[in-house]
Amino acid sequence: MRVRTLDDMPAHLAGKRVLVRCDLNVPVAEGEVADRTRLEAALPTLRELEARGADILILSHFGRPKGRDPALSLRPVGAALAALLGREVGFLDWLADGATPAPGVTILENTRFDPGEEQNDPGLARRLAALGDFYVNDAFSAAHRAHASTEAIAHLLPAFAGRSMEAELRALEAALGQPERPVIAIVGGAKVSTKIDVLANLVARVAHLVIGGGMANTFLAARGIAIGRSLHEPDHLETARTIAERAARAGCTLHLPFDVVVAQDFRANAPHRVASVHEVAPDEIILDLGPASVEAVGDVLKTCRTLVWNGPLGAFELPPFDAASLAIARMAAALTAEGSLVSVAGGGDTVAALNRAGVAGQFSFVSTAGGAFLEWMEGRALPGVEALREKVLP
Ligand code: 3PG
Repeated sequence: MRVRTLDDMPAHLAGKRVLVRCDLNVPVAEGEVADRTRLEAALPTLRELEARGADILILSHFGRPKGRDPALSLRPVGAALAALLGREVGFLDWLADGATPAPGVTILENTRFDPGEEQNDPGLARRLAALGDFYVNDAFSAAHRAHASTEAIAHLLPAFAGRSMEAELRALEAALGQPERPVIAIVGGAKVSTKIDVLANLVARVAHLVIGGGMANTFLAARGIAIGRSLHEPDHLETARTIAERAARAGCTLHLPFDVVVAQDFRANAPHRVASVHEVAPDEIILDLGPASVEAVGDVLKTCRTLVWNGPLGAFELPPFDAASLAIARMAAALTAEGSLVSVAGGGDTVAALNRAGVAGQFSFVSTAGGAFLEWMEGRALPGVEALREKVLP
């Protein structure tokens, strides 16, 4: 069933209060918001509802508090959001009995201050729902959590996807739901063990799977290749073999590096050299894909119509071992600009790599989600999205 959006809500909302679930879980350093991406993502929905005359109560978690933790108050985030919105935003300090938001825009204190939030407690959901007339979920990045403010509440009020949620769902559908084929997936990161389900799902759905980062070392080791002192997971060699077999059965071509950048130390600017994967010395560490492998990935990219990317390809936090991630990001951006590729990327490190390459704005879509993006890549239903599919109350 289709998810309803703001287009399905009444045009005039004067006198109505809309509860908007945002993801205001942003990095804060010394009381200041360090990255405003998620706040900016919330603005279109808030502005649109405001323009329709609605009163708004914003719901969000912040961090992972164990009960009420003043260090995880949403107050500083609320101030930053108010500045972006360019208006006064009220603050409601949790659901004391009888506390109701004033007219206008109000932020509720961290939903996770109430233990009922993470228990998806119907009682808490009812208390929240009593504060409004409509529910809008604009927090795709929290949609993998079945919590009171993301799941239970959606069954109690007419429920809609906000603009940011809508854009995420549309982009993800274009990437893996009904994509233009062939599809290439790039999966990097340190550990196979955290992405087994992602890889298992992808091999059945994409034509090409490029594996990079520390994960690639585990796949190389599983093929009996000596990888020196490289980061890898000896306990997951069998997992890597199983995924490779599944890929072969499904007709998915697995791309592993065949040349690599190696160094003796895991640190930025460590002296390094390019080597074939068969020539890694016992005291060396693989830190990035080599230039020939990067070129080969570029050649495959040119034959594909859709790219899904999660996880950097090398030790991208340590320059110059970010070279492969940056080069491939730029190639994908150029193909997207030419109109031959739909490019979708997600996950904190991936977004950081795209930003460093200066091309985040040139991808078709960059997801603000971390865990939710991964669960979607695993092919799992996200409770916060599923709850919006339900037939809505009158
Ligand atoms: C995120 O930052 O990925 C979301 O806000 C979800 O946060 P959580 O992992 O604490 O549920």
